Amino acid sequence: MSLKDPEIMMQLKMIELTDEEIRIAKYFQPIIREHSEEIVDSFYKSVLEVEKLKQLIQEHSTIERLKKTLELHLIEIFSGQFDAQFLEKRTQVAMIHFRIGLDPKWYLSAFQNLLNASLGVVLRRVEDREESMRISTVVTKLFNFEQQLVLD
Ligand code: HEM
Repeated sequence: MSLKDPEIMMQLKMIELTDEEIRIAKYFQPIIREHSEEIVDSFYKSVLEVEKLKQLIQEHSTIERLKKTLELHLIEIFSGQFDAQFLEKRTQVAMIHFRIGLDPKWYLSAFQNLLNASLGVVLRRVEDREESMRISTVVTKLFNFEQQLVLD
């Protein structure tokens, strides 16, 4: 999988993620960084309420370790650099989750939690209504692309 891959290009085209929106993503990255701990805390709070997922985590890793990795991963989503390394990392994440037996339905529901918390940050941090709408749209597109890559 590479950025020159025509299929990846089509995927980006289909969700209408423009260059301008990629710039917006980069502009918003420091704000996501500021709130990454809070977003990830909310993520794991909901994940740990599902006994099956709690056990999966305890079997394979620790919350402390995963929180750190997810924070970095989240910040990277806003880098706007969809290079080979970015794509490769998504394949790895998919393989890791497949290996531990994480069902796509749980991955998707957990992802929605991450999206909710990120949109909450946009709402709180961006006062201008129009700007807030624009950034929210970018956030949903970035997260959608991430899911396309991981579920491929
Ligand atoms: C590993 C992201 C959902 C359990 C990872 C890694 C990332 C990640 C970046 C580290 C990969 C690496 O070490 O290179 C995500 C994202 C999710 C998600 C973005 C959805 C929004 C979940 C859920 C669980 C989970 C719901 C619940 C069981 C794990 C475990 C590992 C892991 C146990 C470590 C596996 C190992 O090191 O052997 N995840 N994850 N993940 N994830 Fe997730």
